[in-house]
Amino acid sequence: MSASPLIQTPISEMFDLRYPIICGAMMWLGTPRLCEVVADAGGMGTLTAAIYKTEEEFRDAVVETKKRLNGRSFMVGVTILPSIAVSDEHHKMYLRVCAEEKVPGIEVSGAPIDRACGMDYLDALKEAGVRLFHKVGSLRHAKHAQKVGYDGVYCAGIEEGGHPLNDDVSTMVLTPKFADELSIPVVTTGGIADGRSMAAALALGASGVMMATRFMATTDCCEIHDNIRNELVKRQEYETELIAKNLGLQCRALSNGVVKEINKVEAANGGLDEMMPLMTGQRAKKGWIVGDVDLGVYTVGQTIGRINDIPTTAELLERMAKEALDASMAVQGLYS
Ligand SMILES: Cc1cc2nc3c(=O)[nH]c(=O)nc-3n(C[C@H](O)[C@H](O)[C@H](O)COP(=O)(O)O)c2cc1C
Repeated sequence: MSASPLIQTPISEMFDLRYPIICGAMMWLGTPRLCEVVADAGGMGTLTAAIYKTEEEFRDAVVETKKRLNGRSFMVGVTILPSIAVSDEHHKMYLRVCAEEKVPGIEVSGAPIDRACGMDYLDALKEAGVRLFHKVGSLRHAKHAQKVGYDGVYCAGIEEGGHPLNDDVSTMVLTPKFADELSIPVVTTGGIADGRSMAAALALGASGVMMATRFMATTDCCEIHDNIRNELVKRQEYETELIAKNLGLQCRALSNGVVKEINKVEAANGGLDEMMPLMTGQRAKKGWIVGDVDLGVYTVGQTIGRINDIPTTAELLERMAKEALDASMAVQGLYS
């Protein structure tokens, strides 16, 4: 795939992408192979650090990604949220290895690098030429990222899969606010599933879009069972639920048996001890592979209601670019 941008934005230019479309961090699914599939299609994938628990495993994954991509861009997703399996030492190790291996970019979610690990880590990454992006759900957090030297922000609305901020604001409101008040590029995430939503984000002032759920419903991007892909096509936009809000770890997931059980425990003021066995990532890890829709907490966004087919990743991105152009021309056509 040619690196020359078809849609020219600060994001496609920063990372030499044909389309300013990023596949975000995905626990268990964001592998070197995924980064290659998305790069081949003209976008950018994210290697998800928390999949790898030792320095050797993580470095091997970074080196393999660099080899597969042969100079093309990828992000590394570093999630800095309270976790039993991933400690503060893991976060520091991930960031150190990213600087040593000079990865093209990092998507940080949760706490910013300067607060979680110290300014030294941020400085080392910048010195190594790593582009830093923070995924945030509020302008105050975005402004902090800009102030300490991040190169861009992901503007994450309440629609997104994963852990939207408990401010609960949508991308429709956040994107233009970010674009108006920041001088660094903004990438919209949450609610993006096709070219029309990408055109809307670009019209609101974003320089690119990031999606995760949509990439799961492709033939080649994620190593998941067909049952899961088909389930995403079947489900509607109202079939996700927010869980763990009381724990300060709000998470949007596919509505299923486990999620309903968690919400029952939460409504009865149950604590982490009761919720953890249900929420453990091991259940999702197994569920993706065996195709059991009710086994785990599957983080997905409201875009499940806008997914109607299972194309290849390349078809998806090419179609999105065309749809975005058609959508912007349709708006132009409304003017007398
Ligand atoms: C299966 C899956 C796993 C995810 N895992 C992570 C993760 O480990 N860290 C993280 O920061 N975000 C994670 N996310 C959130 C995505 O990176 C992204 O912010 C979000 O899913 C975008 O919304 P969308 O899925 O509606 O497109 C995950 C999302 C999905 C769908």
